[in-house]
Amino acid sequence: MTTSPKTAIVLGTGLGQLASEITDRYEFPYQEIPNFPVSTVEGHSGKLIFGKLGGVDIMAMQGRFHFYEGYSMKDVTFPVRVMYELGIETLFVSNAAGGMNPDFKIGDLMIITDHINFFPEHPLRGKNFPTGPRFPDMHETYDHNLIAEAEEIAKEKGIKLQHGVYVGVQGPTFETPAEYKMYRILGGDAVGMSTVPEVIVAHHCGIKTFGISVITDLGGFDVPVEVSHEEVQEAANMAQPLMTAIMREMIARAESIEAHNKEQFNTAHPTEEWKSQK
Ligand code: HPA
Repeated sequence: MTTSPKTAIVLGTGLGQLASEITDRYEFPYQEIPNFPVSTVEGHSGKLIFGKLGGVDIMAMQGRFHFYEGYSMKDVTFPVRVMYELGIETLFVSNAAGGMNPDFKIGDLMIITDHINFFPEHPLRGKNFPTGPRFPDMHETYDHNLIAEAEEIAKEKGIKLQHGVYVGVQGPTFETPAEYKMYRILGGDAVGMSTVPEVIVAHHCGIKTFGISVITDLGGFDVPVEVSHEEVQEAANMAQPLMTAIMREMIARAESIEAHNKEQFNTAHPTEEWKSQK
């Protein structure tokens, strides 16, 4: 059996359950893949899973690499480079995030409409890879067709969705009340410690991206609120069924969205010309 997925998913917080739904699977532990970063925590090595989800060929990353763990930006984003080489065209990501928008509640799902990159090192720093331009345009980093599809699915299923700007920070500390306030003033709706590096590299590779945050804690309002890793996990687990329902359906429709995009514009993605220079 062969598989040639055009869709990849990073099984971040809130999406662990989806891994068990992948059928016809091949698994590659990270330590068996040349140059792949390997987790230093024993028993948490992670793997790439290839298989089918809702009839669609899929590549799933179970276990991601965070900058706060000590990985370089090149390590954190290496899996996305692998996705590109394997022909991935659409990437789905999820994460846990702290909400600063006063309309948000714990357990809300937030579609990421844009991001602010607060990581201290840029993932594209260094010699430019010929997958995209030296100075990439970022005006639509999160694909509007995928966002529209998610909204439709959520409506059909009666799931409430928030929308907002995700601020990517290095961690590992959660924010001080003053920091939450600052990120709010700067235009953020939620803050978290992942996603932005992978999305930047995916965008540079011409891979369309869709991201959802589960709001696991709140900050930046007048009352300072304590936050712990356990509470974040608990809130993420509560939201998991809804997040999973949306992503499962988006993946099932991913190939038709891709076909629709190609038909609608009838031209290659702008980065195709960069790909052809490789
Ligand atoms: N801040 C940063 N990262 C997070 C948070 C937060 O409040 N919640 C979950 N991940």
